[in-house]
Amino acid sequence: MILLDGTKLAEEIKTELGEKIKKLTDEGKKVPGLVTILVGENPASQSYVNSKGKACQKLGMLSKTERLPETISQEELISIIYKYNNDPAFHGILVQLPLPKHINEDVIVESIIPAKDVDGFNPVNVGNLSIGKDTFYPCTPYGIVEMLKRYKIETSGKHAVVVGRSNIVGKPIANMLVQKKEGANCVVTICHSAAKDLKKFTLQADILIAAIGRANYITADMVREGAVVIDVGINRVEDKTTEKGYKIVGDVDFENVAPKTSYITPVPGGVGKMTIAMLLVNTYEAYLKIER
Ligand code: GUN
Repeated sequence: MILLDGTKLAEEIKTELGEKIKKLTDEGKKVPGLVTILVGENPASQSYVNSKGKACQKLGMLSKTERLPETISQEELISIIYKYNNDPAFHGILVQLPLPKHINEDVIVESIIPAKDVDGFNPVNVGNLSIGKDTFYPCTPYGIVEMLKRYKIETSGKHAVVVGRSNIVGKPIANMLVQKKEGANCVVTICHSAAKDLKKFTLQADILIAAIGRANYITADMVREGAVVIDVGINRVEDKTTEKGYKIVGDVDFENVAPKTSYITPVPGGVGKMTIAMLLVNTYEAYLKIER
């Protein structure tokens, strides 16, 4: 069994990107800019947004965080997004989800111009992804595909079983892996919480992707010997032995599943670390498209 080390890979990707940005700075050129918009005070969202901002700055990219009150109206939020759509200093715009109930997420996501939609959530980019055209890949699925590539894990003709159908992970990873492209070309099955006999599907997986958001949901009896297991889950479970009173576990019962696998991602230190690295890559790609 080989551990897929997301921490190491993410560092590698950030180092490569840092060199490209240093070159821009040395040449006196403009650098890529990312604005992150946070509405309200959800602690998990605050922590994600802080990490995104720090990672940007560390590489020498321009980074700005807009912290907006929970009570902001949908119209006000849209007008702030429009301002950044037209601001040449910023190449990527990210609105942290979830948003407060009175704001329609679909409308917000659609108000970010596709050229700066570094999350890849705008329906134009989702559509381009589904027909295999150039687009921004949503960061977590992009991180998974990059991980498989860098570990030289064969995907062509393999059966990928995705557990979870979210717009952020399940659907886009299925869409990416099914494309007739290098690092993809899988046969793909998407399962979800309504599956009658989930195990029947997961046992057929050469590559099993768990993105259902339930702690330790994938147990050893559900995994085929030798499978590649990618755990996207970030779940808090009570743990009185830790200072915070909780620990983070994935969607996979790691201890019992790992010995059966050929490759597996740990949680933490797996896919999660890749997500931010790929956001920076998307911001750099947005910069190249806009500035050249
Ligand atoms: N909330 C959870 N994951 C994500 C993500 O990838 N992007 C944004 N914008 N919000 C999120």
